[in-house]
Amino acid sequence: MIFRQLFDKESSTYTYLLADKETKEGVLIDPVFEQVERDCALIGDLSVKLKFILETHVHADHITGADAIRNITGAKIAMIKHAQVQGSDKVFEEGDELSFGNHLIKVLYTPGHTNTCCCFFVNGMIFTGDSLMIRGTGRTDFQSGSPETLYDSIHQKIFSLPDSTLVYPAHNYQGKTVSTIIEEKKFNPRINLGKTKEEFIEIMNNLNLSYPKKIDLAVPANQKCGKQ
Ligand SMILES: [Fe+2]
Repeated sequence: MIFRQLFDKESSTYTYLLADKETKEGVLIDPVFEQVERDCALIGDLSVKLKFILETHVHADHITGADAIRNITGAKIAMIKHAQVQGSDKVFEEGDELSFGNHLIKVLYTPGHTNTCCCFFVNGMIFTGDSLMIRGTGRTDFQSGSPETLYDSIHQKIFSLPDSTLVYPAHNYQGKTVSTIIEEKKFNPRINLGKTKEEFIEIMNNLNLSYPKKIDLAVPANQKCGKQ
């Protein structure tokens, strides 16, 4: 499988390009508006026929490049049904499978950071968005977030995958690119297996994070696939 991890410095967002080596059919996960040119150039260079543009959730920190990339490539925008995004081409839900070439992506609905969050499991890799991050988790204080729900999503769904599964999040602020399920079960300071749900809720309710800078601009745009 063709696999590329791309990074947007401004928002510390990872965008992922996956494609079938033989058929060249591919998907792009979590594109950033400012990086549309870069992403489309890579898609062209690798001769990828982009089938789907996927989002792990309605992002609050950056505007998605989904609509712009759809206009350039003709790919379809697919979103979890709970996001109720305007102008998407396809909706999916928990347990659905999306195919590209000879590969299948399994959808896991993982609310908690927001109520629109999902993860994509494919070929021993999980794309976790802001649900489970490397030694962290997404915040739970906006967009119908809930620490209790996030704890259940991570424990019941993400942690039930094989321990060797590679974890690729939507962001990292320390330069870390990938983790595994077993590493996060052991070393994630918020939600390792030794932490109770009550401890997790206590941690999440006392993070004292600042107001997300771009939320008032990004969320309305992202509810329309990034159309501005
Ligand atoms: Fe987020």
